[in-house]
Amino acid sequence: MNTIRAALVETYGEPPRYSSILEPHPEAGGEVVDVLAVGVHPVTRGAAAGLHYASPDRLPMVPGVDGVVRRADGSLAFVIARDTGTLAERILLNPARAIPVPGGADPAIVAATMNPLMSSWVVLRARVPFTPGQSVLVLGATGNAGSMAVKVAQHLGAGRVVAAGRNRARLDALVDDGADHVVPLTSDLEATGTALAASAADVDVVLDYVWGAPAEHAMRAILSARTDPAQVLDWVHIGSTGGDAIALDGAAIRSHALRISGSGFGSVSPSVYRNELPDAAAAVASGALVVRPRRYALADVEEAWAHVDEPGERTVIVL
Ligand SMILES: NC(=O)c1ccc[n+]([C@@H]2O[C@H](COP(=O)([O-])OP(=O)(O)OC[C@H]3O[C@@H](n4cnc5c(N)ncnc54)[C@H](OP(=O)(O)O)[C@@H]3O)[C@@H](O)[C@H]2O)c1
Repeated sequence: MNTIRAALVETYGEPPRYSSILEPHPEAGGEVVDVLAVGVHPVTRGAAAGLHYASPDRLPMVPGVDGVVRRADGSLAFVIARDTGTLAERILLNPARAIPVPGGADPAIVAATMNPLMSSWVVLRARVPFTPGQSVLVLGATGNAGSMAVKVAQHLGAGRVVAAGRNRARLDALVDDGADHVVPLTSDLEATGTALAASAADVDVVLDYVWGAPAEHAMRAILSARTDPAQVLDWVHIGSTGGDAIALDGAAIRSHALRISGSGFGSVSPSVYRNELPDAAAAVASGALVVRPRRYALADVEEAWAHVDEPGERTVIVL
């Protein structure tokens, strides 16, 4: 039996190791493809640490939830493959899940960008009835996914985009990337609430990367300042950097047209990713929407895991 090089998690709590696994064989309907680049996203780290709802029960596992591959016909594709993992020289691909990537695209840039990009792309294109001209608040706009959400909202025709986040320099830089207004999220919850109420009271969609207590306070401030309580507010939970849970008064949803939903693996069906992501991949390949990759070789996977990304960069393992 032939073996290939791969990253392997053998114990939760320890980083993946550079290792070998059996080479995958084509199965009925499957295609063995060469892996070119894999992003090390928060979900990738969480799943490999056993901390994500998508973490497998049994180890060892090949980490990596997505990546860019070269297919047998030479074309590039982006794949989401949480079941097999992607940090291996070759993986078995379900061709129905291959998202075409324009030829000539840099696989590392695509691998760095697609995960943060798709979080808002899929929401605004398929999860809420967003129409051009509507206004969007991005809560937690200073990480890769939040910054990308500001650009995506603008790219998809939002009439007004408000960016709220903690890092003041990053926040101010978002004005050049399409934010019409920025709101600093500070430890002074009252001042933050007042600022959010002043600039985001009547938004149509909130893309929430924070959740937890900061989102709870923001929700209260925005609802209490709304001009028309019957105007629908779609609040979409995407990330949990501020906490895993919120408390919500029943009165808040009785007295306002508030719709809370979540978006991520599980709540978004594979067919939605299949339909919506080719345009996202094309936008990345064109250079319109890009996260900077920090490249590591597969043999240096432990070093890659230890690296803390600078604002605007994403660790990518290039094979
Ligand atoms: N559901 C999906 O489809 C999907 C897809 C991609 C990402 N996500 C999730 O979205 C979140 C962000 O992902 P990412 O790729 O942007 O990660 P990232 O690039 O590492 O950014 C995370 C950012 O969160 C900010 N942050 C941390 N704690 C915060 C708090 N209490 N309040 C406000 N901001 C806080 C930090 O920025 P400052 O230090 O500047 O505040 C940090 O830069 C993660 O939870 C991730 O799992 C979900």
